[in-house]
Amino acid sequence: LVLILDYGSQYTHLITRRIRSLSVFSLCISGTSPLSTITSLNPKVVILSGGPHSVHSLDSPSFPSGFIEWVCSNGVFVLGICYGLQLLVQRLGGEVRVGEKQEYGRMEIEVGKNSGIFGGKMVGDRQIVWMSHGDEAAQLPKGFEVVARSQQGSVAAVEDRERRFYGLQYHPEVTHSPEGMETLRYFLSNICGVNPGWKMEDILDEEIKVIKGTVGTDDHVICALSGGVDSTVAATLVHKAIGDRLHCVFVDNGLLRYKERERVMETFERDLHLPVTCVDARDQFLSKLKGVVDPEMKRKIIGKEFIAIFDAFAQDLGNKLGKKPAYLVQGTLYPDVIESCPPPGTGRNHSHTIKSHHNVGGLPKDMKLKLIEPLKLLFKDEVRKLGKILNVPEPFLKRHPFPGPGLAVRVLGDVTEGNALDILRQVDEIFIQSIKDAGLYDSIWQAFAVFLPVKSVGVQGDQRTHSHVVALRAVTSQDGMTADWYNFEHKFLDDVARKICNSVRGVNRVVQDITSKPPSTIEWE
Ligand code: XMP
Repeated sequence: LVLILDYGSQYTHLITRRIRSLSVFSLCISGTSPLSTITSLNPKVVILSGGPHSVHSLDSPSFPSGFIEWVCSNGVFVLGICYGLQLLVQRLGGEVRVGEKQEYGRMEIEVGKNSGIFGGKMVGDRQIVWMSHGDEAAQLPKGFEVVARSQQGSVAAVEDRERRFYGLQYHPEVTHSPEGMETLRYFLSNICGVNPGWKMEDILDEEIKVIKGTVGTDDHVICALSGGVDSTVAATLVHKAIGDRLHCVFVDNGLLRYKERERVMETFERDLHLPVTCVDARDQFLSKLKGVVDPEMKRKIIGKEFIAIFDAFAQDLGNKLGKKPAYLVQGTLYPDVIESCPPPGTGRNHSHTIKSHHNVGGLPKDMKLKLIEPLKLLFKDEVRKLGKILNVPEPFLKRHPFPGPGLAVRVLGDVTEGNALDILRQVDEIFIQSIKDAGLYDSIWQAFAVFLPVKSVGVQGDQRTHSHVVALRAVTSQDGMTADWYNFEHKFLDDVARKICNSVRGVNRVVQDITSKPPSTIEWE
């Protein structure tokens, strides 16, 4: 295992992903985790991430006391990256000071020794790297030597081969450091002797073993399917482990996309052979949403209804089986559970968040069901790979994310007013189908239409109309945290707008949302 201690760098997850892409299993935990947590994971290599802090500030995060003694006596390799290097230098008795010249962005470094972390390189070899630091190592601890310097002469790489400490002042994990991946690969395999061999198939076998070992032979398990990638892959995996003792429920809340219920049910039954109960709760949800215009209120109401339906499902099942289900499957992903050392003032917290049921209302506090979260160590792209091995149909795995509260957050204002939901479904379907036909679907993170509570004047045929305005939104993103608007060709937009106005009654104007996130969010509510 390669363990990453996170000190708040925006690139920390990237280190974890890069190492996994070298077929080496890596995990990321908070950089201030107790020593017992670190030692219980028994890592062969520990990487100290970068971070926005200065080792001089009073609240700068650090590894726990006893860490250095533990790594030294257990032959563990340590690599400090950026802030991680400075932390290592300072805690081992060296000196870090504010650099005379700060180094941000693209820099050239020169190798000063042809051994250690730059193994194959010759003295004098140069490479471009990505730096982002104000502090620098001014005096190295005993046993350390400089193996590369930046073009400005500051320390770019250090090592103490005897005690197995290494440090890079730049970020090898970003693509702007073109040789960074090779440096990481060389470090892990040639210096640390880590064997690549971590495969998604192993994860699958391991998870199945864990689930079989956890769920008793007469225990039953329930899972709420949203129709999204995560819950589908999680359910398919659990089904493979315990068969039909898994009971899935899919709720039609009246806020689904065009033919969503039929499409999802067909995939589950025909392609995945998963037993799913479909609950038609359209009236239940829509009657509660009547007259509600506040987005947060909508979310709360929807969350509460989901939980009520879910409870009733578990209760019914308990009556039928003579035994209440004991477990609940959640499609929680790794980014949801990673603890980090957030930069001060960002509002990000250290808490372990469990993705709540459908992400809308949270799980009830007195929930008796125990959680099974088979994806909680995986990133989204890894979940897609796992889904592929589990034969989840490809188009399903590539679906754009869809929010738990569904179209309720895409009809601005009262969702029950007029035929807003119907209009939105038709517009959305035309937009998405056009994107698919143009071969653009997989290049876009998320695309959808929004129904605006605004009417404008138009002229259709010989008649003046007073009809609704709809907005189209398509964004690119890595993780939904930030996003940029997708720049369609004019001809594409022209065709889509024409098609919408010609075929959807009640719409006479189409606008496009061209804001990024931030300042906007992806959804409108
Ligand atoms: P925003 O609108 O916050 O959305 O930029 C970021 C991502 O999260 C999705 N989203 C939600 N997902 N429940 C969910 O399950 C919600 O209440 C919710 N709100 C937004 C959104 O579709 C995007 O992918």
